[in-house]
Amino acid sequence: MKARQGKPAAKPEQDVTEQLGLKPGQSIELLKALHILTREGKINQDSRRKLKQVYHLYQFIAPILEELSADDHAVTLADHGAGKSYLGFILYDLYFKPLGRGHIYGIETRAPLVEASQKLAAELGFDRMGFLNMSVAESTHADFMPAQFDVVTALHACDTATDDAIAFGLEKKAKAMVLVPCCQAEVAACLRQTKALSLTRTPLAELWRHPIHTREMGSQLTNVLRCLYLEACGYQVTVTELVGWEHSMKNELIIARYTGQKKRSSVERLRAILEEFGLSGSALAHRFGQ
Ligand SMILES: C[S@@+](CC[C@H](N)C(=O)[O-])C[C@H]1O[C@@H](n2cnc3c(N)ncnc32)[C@H](O)[C@@H]1O
Repeated sequence: MKARQGKPAAKPEQDVTEQLGLKPGQSIELLKALHILTREGKINQDSRRKLKQVYHLYQFIAPILEELSADDHAVTLADHGAGKSYLGFILYDLYFKPLGRGHIYGIETRAPLVEASQKLAAELGFDRMGFLNMSVAESTHADFMPAQFDVVTALHACDTATDDAIAFGLEKKAKAMVLVPCCQAEVAACLRQTKALSLTRTPLAELWRHPIHTREMGSQLTNVLRCLYLEACGYQVTVTELVGWEHSMKNELIIARYTGQKKRSSVERLRAILEEFGLSGSALAHRFGQ
């Protein structure tokens, strides 16, 4: 790049810092390992989007971490369906590393991804990160896991893994859960089974008569049930759009903060909705405490 007249050309690393909006002390080695930067330190435009997205999510998580870290508390965070652990690594680098306390656990069923994350954490000296090769459900009852977790995150954890993450959060008395659900097939499958009957009972069944609507309705209904369930369990729930997630249709962000006030009306609504959609007797009702 040519220097403007009178101004010296920016050094490449200065350029990268500005363009990516990097924070002071952020690890360049980590960004290279996550392929956000090339080995030569240039910006990889494809992965850059991923960083922007994780940064965006970080804006929601950072104030929660700040609040929970008060009084020298060492926050424990479980990231479910961690994949390559972009989120966990960025959270550690931006928050846990400078703070000098707290622990992140990444839970992921794909062994090669877990091994790669373990290796990278060791190389970077991120020694308060652990990666477990197991399912979310298994991790809930693993005896070596802490009995309490402060924060649970699940970013596009597939299908019912989000529900398992909620069950984990409830079991571990999480103070906050930050969930970006992925595609969900379980409720749609139940809606499909009872569709004919529902169509005879209510004109509202038109909302899920066509297969594409069944899928979409199943997904929408799942997230509504998740929110009601969290409220019934004493969480205050905010649902918003995870802006910046342009490449994904799945950009609903559910943030649940524990208040201890269990909403009776949410329990009633949850039951009524399950009933209305012919889901009360289905195996999935137990996911929502029924
Ligand atoms: C779509 S990826 C998202 C990865 C990462 N959270 C991200 O946003 O980049 C979902 C990940 O969840 C993992 N996964 C799916 N079901 C799981 C389960 N029940 N327990 C743990 N991991 C699971 C998959 O192997 C996959 O790596």
